[in-house]
Amino acid sequence: MSSDLKIFSGGANLQLATQICETLGLGLSRLAVSRFSNDNLFVQIRENVREKDVFVVQPFTAPVGDTIMELFIIMDALRSASARRITAVIPYFSYARSDKKDAPRISITGRLMADLIRTAGADRVLTMDLHSDAVHGFFSIPVDHLTAIPYFVEHFRERLDLDNAVVVATDAGGAKRAGRLAQRLHLPMAIIDKRRVADTEVVQGLVVGEVKGRDAIIFEDEISTGGTLAASVKTLAAAGVKSIHVGATHGVLCGPAVNRLVDSPIESVAVTDTVHVPREKQADKIHTLSVAPLFAEAIRRIHTGESVGALFD
Ligand code: R5P
Repeated sequence: MSSDLKIFSGGANLQLATQICETLGLGLSRLAVSRFSNDNLFVQIRENVREKDVFVVQPFTAPVGDTIMELFIIMDALRSASARRITAVIPYFSYARSDKKDAPRISITGRLMADLIRTAGADRVLTMDLHSDAVHGFFSIPVDHLTAIPYFVEHFRERLDLDNAVVVATDAGGAKRAGRLAQRLHLPMAIIDKRRVADTEVVQGLVVGEVKGRDAIIFEDEISTGGTLAASVKTLAAAGVKSIHVGATHGVLCGPAVNRLVDSPIESVAVTDTVHVPREKQADKIHTLSVAPLFAEAIRRIHTGESVGALFD
């Protein structure tokens, strides 16, 4: 790989950044992050980046404010150090969930973040499975939007007998995403009617589509508190499904999520490593699929000017 390409990582997912570098046969470039006694962050780039094509890996994981600020300061330092091009690699863009004005006097924070990422120095963004496709349009710089669907297709083909399966979206907003998986697996799909009543609470009702006696594959962009899945399991059980499996790109797994999954009748859960799953959140039924090879290939193509879209043909 060309010596013009450099990959840095913030502290959010060093494991993923390291695997991306290993796939590309590169070492992770060096930087130092520390804090002053007043809690201000301090970043120093520890190698020459003048005229280099630089990628910074930083998914927006907890503590999200600190993680985002760290990315901004790293990019600003790289720009000051004369990097030729800076790509913000944000495998999980958490603020994509804030994508519309659905209450009075609120911020569409996904849009604000897109503006700030550019202001901090990003020339382009590389991300994966945004909560909604519309978020792509919040950015005024080029965005390459990857999907982990090929990994889930392979995972479910290998693990499950798909003869009697159905892909399920937990709400109408996720229907497009679930439809894409269903299409790739040549399966029918169903949609649950969901309403979110609070950050941690959802209510569900009817299922649109045939699920009785079938093996349900719930497909989501993320598992946060697991509240949506807990409600979905009840709805699907009442509708007479035979078994329930789950695929979700971002395993955020906050608060009660892991216990909810472990204690539920869900037979298996697959997430990717866009968000690092620490040992204490691992469980027998939770499988982690690594998307490092896909990010590595996308970075290689961006660097050499090849098509990234062609990755999904
Ligand atoms: C919401 O619309 C998303 O697609 C997910 O269903 C949601 O983010 C999951 O959050 P939680 O696990 O907290 O229900």
